[in-house]
Amino acid sequence: MNLAAVVLSAGLGTRMKSALPKVLHPLSGKPMVRYVVEALSALKPEKIIAVVGMNGEGIRHALRDCPVSFAVQREPEGTGDALKTAVKKLRGFTGTLLVVSGDTPLVKASTLQEFLKLHRKNRKDLSLISFIAGGAHSYGRIIREGNKLGAIIEHKHASEEQKKISEVNSGIYAIESPLLKLLNKITINKSQGEYYLTDIVGIAVSKGYRAGAFLLGNEDELTGINTRQDLYRASQYLRDRVVAGFMEKGVTFIDKASAFIHPEAVIGPETVIYPNVHIEGKTLIGSGCVVYPNSRIIDCKIGNNVIIKDSTLIESSVINEGASVGPFAHVRPGSVIGAHARIGNFVELKKSLIGSGSKASHLSYLGDAEIGEQVNIGAGTITCNYDGKFKHKTFIEDNVFIGSDTQLVAPVKIGKGSYVGAGSTITRDVPPLSLAVSRTPQKNIEKWAVKRQVWNRKPEVRSEKKKKEG
Ligand code: UD1
Ligand code: CA
Repeated sequence: MNLAAVVLSAGLGTRMKSALPKVLHPLSGKPMVRYVVEALSALKPEKIIAVVGMNGEGIRHALRDCPVSFAVQREPEGTGDALKTAVKKLRGFTGTLLVVSGDTPLVKASTLQEFLKLHRKNRKDLSLISFIAGGAHSYGRIIREGNKLGAIIEHKHASEEQKKISEVNSGIYAIESPLLKLLNKITINKSQGEYYLTDIVGIAVSKGYRAGAFLLGNEDELTGINTRQDLYRASQYLRDRVVAGFMEKGVTFIDKASAFIHPEAVIGPETVIYPNVHIEGKTLIGSGCVVYPNSRIIDCKIGNNVIIKDSTLIESSVINEGASVGPFAHVRPGSVIGAHARIGNFVELKKSLIGSGSKASHLSYLGDAEIGEQVNIGAGTITCNYDGKFKHKTFIEDNVFIGSDTQLVAPVKIGKGSYVGAGSTITRDVPPLSLAVSRTPQKNIEKWAVKRQVWNRKPEVRSEKKKKEG
């Protein structure tokens, strides 16, 4: 049976008090409209149309890699008008049209699937998903006549009696194509200046069509996000859902309330996550790892048994098995840390490869460097990779020992098995198995301190000197 889908996402989102369109506000790092489009895509409709406003570039960009086409609603004249705009792009379509609001990001594909099944099995012309809402809310109320769906009344227009109805409209509809013509029968709501899509229910019922409301899912899943409070609640719920899923797979959380794990991350069993850890994007973490507090890992691939020590930031990089990073390290994009390597306190890497078993344990900057295996990088080593115009590479081959406080002025290469003396500034390549040292020779001035003490004891000498200088 034919299926097409529409995502309504052209509203102003006034209640968010934001310059950003509401449906672009992120939930665990991803714009909410993407969640809706991804859930719809799982149903493989022949077309998905997203309705955007005149300033829809942000939404187009957020959905650039999704199988979506766009319809532009010139003025935000309500959900009824928004759907009418989309339907213009669906000329000739026959079948079921699934309509979802872009501000309902937590709806699962399985719920949409179940809904379609019920809609079709019960031979409805028009259906919607309803749920039971608790507490204060502003959802449209489901008005039933006996058991049957009669109409939807919006919160703003509901009587005190109607406001007591706890069954509400999720804003998710299945509409058979012949009923789309009823959109033209919706009249403007004068007080709000909007065409309410919800009015189509009463119109369809009055014309004898079969309309149904299916109670599916729950408020957590079907919540519509209108305010920052709603966004916060939905984020909490999603976080809980994600963390619970990882626990089921064998991940330990020291404090689940302060674990911020994006839904697309993968974490292996026996890994321990300490408080206030953020694992973002499509990060993969192996098994048996420990991530200590205050660390943030974005779009990384991390092998088994890796230790990420406290307060470490790792971005778009690969860390191989058994390595350890941190505390207070910054691994910038494009870095690869070899197996069992150690990156320690206050070390910054940028686009650098660190061979297996190599160590940079303290206070270093390693940028655009290719470092072999079993290399020791002394404390305070700096690759001078930028000449003010261009970036240059530093090559350090296997088994090299770089003494502390060395500057490696790139482009430069340190050959296999060589040593660099502490405090050196290396500007030329070092051949294999050599020692490179570059420092001013040390001068010892004997008795210098004794002379200084004598001078300190003679105040008249000091004041003479001061007068001269004055
Ligand atoms: C809507 C429903 C309400 C339901 C609730 C569920 C109507 C009139 N009311 O209310 O019954 O309980 O959703 O969450 O439909 N949009 C446009 N163009 C517009 C206006 C809105 O594309 O001109 C889009 C918005 O971007 C949003 C969606 O439609 O994604 C719903 O609009 P919103 O203003 O959030 O409707 P609610 O007041 O929440
Ligand atoms: Ca809404």
